[in-house]
Amino acid sequence: MNELSVELSHVRKSYHRPVLKDITLHIDNDSFIAILGKSGSGKSTLLNILGLLERYDAGEYWFNGKPIRNDTDYHALRLHNIGFIFQSYNLIPTLTCRENILLPTLYGHVQSRDLHRLASLLDIEPLLDQSVTTLSGGEKQRVAIARALILDPCLLLADEPTGNLDPKNRDVIFSLLRSEHKKGRAIVLITHDAAAAKEADSVMELKNGTLIRSTD
Ligand SMILES: Nc1ncnc2c1ncn2[C@@H]1O[C@H](COP(=O)(O)OP(=O)(O)OP(=O)(O)O)[C@@H](O)[C@H]1O
Ligand SMILES: [Mg+2]
Repeated sequence: MNELSVELSHVRKSYHRPVLKDITLHIDNDSFIAILGKSGSGKSTLLNILGLLERYDAGEYWFNGKPIRNDTDYHALRLHNIGFIFQSYNLIPTLTCRENILLPTLYGHVQSRDLHRLASLLDIEPLLDQSVTTLSGGEKQRVAIARALILDPCLLLADEPTGNLDPKNRDVIFSLLRSEHKKGRAIVLITHDAAAAKEADSVMELKNGTLIRSTD
């Protein structure tokens, strides 16, 4: 697994109002962090900034020793390092499961994981040639997770990956995240669910635009 070192220092982001006011966070290969927070507290905004999908207004963001600035090649950094599981799956409805999972491999010459091994790990192998529109919520989520892992990223960002799942599927996803973390992959997980957050090694809460260590 690639070495990872991510530093956010006093990061700020506003839309019509300040959302992130002062975010300082360190992530490396040993990190398995859960972030809790009320709806609208800025969790997805923070994850989008970490995942290089959104720009920040002020502060500093260093990714493997390089400052993230406006002229940074966001695309290349993301492709080589980051897997993102979106809050609403973001699967392409006109494509099959296989095509959705393999989509990131079309963007560059990056080593990818074996599709069939990954699909079997997630128990979606029989679904590979099915259109994603025909899947249940849990199946869609597992396809989205396979897509996030196909390029073997050292940082996996998961926005409510178990939000729509029943307890059995939730356990399947968490044991997968745990085993992916054991391979040296850093995980940042967003959740509303304090019980789910306990699966992580450290739990933070996003409150009033800052990250605090959760006391629960
Ligand atoms: N692209 C955007 N343009 C304008 N406002 C935005 C944008 N993205 C987020 N916001 C606002 O920023 C605030 C935080 O949104 P965000 O999606 O980060 O919250 P969240 O903590 O992920 O909420 P939830 O738990 O409901 O997913 C909200 O008030 C939202 O309306
Ligand atoms: Mg959100």
